[in-house]
Amino acid sequence: MPSSDSMTYLQGLVYRRSGIVLEDGKDYLVDSRLSPVARCEGVASVDELVDKLRRDRSGELAQRVVEAMTTNETLFFRDGHPFDALRSHFVPELLKARSQERSLRIWSAAAATGQEPYSIAMALLQGFPELASWRVSILATDLNEAVLERARRGRYRALEVSRGLPPSYLTKYFSRVDGDWELSANVRDMVTFRQLNLVEPWFEIAPCDLVFMRNVLIYFDASTKITVLKRLHSVLRPDGFLVLGGAETTQNLDDSYASVRVGPGVYYQLKTPTLAESTRGAPRAGDVASSRTPRVA
Ligand SMILES: C[S@@+](CC[C@H](N)C(=O)[O-])C[C@H]1O[C@@H](n2cnc3c(N)ncnc32)[C@H](O)[C@@H]1O
Repeated sequence: MPSSDSMTYLQGLVYRRSGIVLEDGKDYLVDSRLSPVARCEGVASVDELVDKLRRDRSGELAQRVVEAMTTNETLFFRDGHPFDALRSHFVPELLKARSQERSLRIWSAAAATGQEPYSIAMALLQGFPELASWRVSILATDLNEAVLERARRGRYRALEVSRGLPPSYLTKYFSRVDGDWELSANVRDMVTFRQLNLVEPWFEIAPCDLVFMRNVLIYFDASTKITVLKRLHSVLRPDGFLVLGGAETTQNLDDSYASVRVGPGVYYQLKTPTLAESTRGAPRAGDVASSRTPRVA
C-alpha cells in the first residue's frame, strides 16, 4: 500500500490535474491502479513511483498517473431513459427549432471508450432519417487519451456489445472483425474524438444543442462542479439541453439552469440567454427559448 505521504501527494496531483477527488481510504484503489504504471516505469512500488513523479519535470508521468486514476466505466445506451428522451423530446424539439439552419451539434463531454457518443449517433440514424440532409456533428471528448484511442477505433469486445446495445443495432451497425465487433463507418464518421480536460482551458467549442456530461461531475468537489457548469453557459445554446448522470444535478450549484422532466429523467436548460449568448452577435435562426418544454424548476 502507498504510504500516507505518497497518498497525500497523489491526492494533490490528481486533484490539480483533473479535479478528481481521491478520498482518504482509497489506498487499495490507488495501489491497484498505479502498480501497473509503477511496473511499466521499472520501479517496485507506488511509493517509488511517487519519488519518480516528484522528479518528473515533463509532466508526462503525471498525465499517465492521472489517466490511470480515471474510472472509464461506460456502456451503450447507459440508463436507457436519456436516450428515450433524446428520441421522444430533445431531437423532435430541435428539429423544429433548427428547421431553418438544418444543423445539430452535440457534445459528449466525458466520452470514455465511446459507447455514449456512438449510442447517440445510432439513435439519430435509426430514429431520424430526415437528418441525413442536415449537418450533424457529435464532438466526443475525454481527459484520457488512451480511452479516446480505443473509442476512435470503434471496436468492442463481445461483452461490451452485450451490455445495453439492442440486438437489432448489433446486426445493423456492427460487423465481426477478428472476434470483436466493429462499428460501421457511417456511425464512426459522425463522431469526432478530441482530448479535453474539463478543469483546464477548453478549446473553442461551437455552441451545442445537446450536451451529454454524464458520470464525470460525481468525481469532482462542489467548487469544481460549479466552475464546470458555469463554463457550460457559453457552450449550451439557450434552448439546448444538458444531460447529466443519474447521481448528478445542477441544484444548489448553479441556478442558471432549469430542470426539465421527460419520462423518468430530469434534464437541464439554461433559464435565460446568458450574457455570452446575448453578446455573441445577431440571433441565429432557432435561437429562442423553447416554450414547449415543460420546466419543473
Ligand atoms: C465513468 S466515465 C463516464 C462515461 C460516459 N459519460 C457514461 O456516462 O457512460 C467518466 C469519464 O470521465 C473522464 N474524466 C474524468 N475527469 C475528467 C476531466 N477532468 N476532464 C474530462 N474528462 C474527465 C474519465 O477519463 C472517464 O472516461
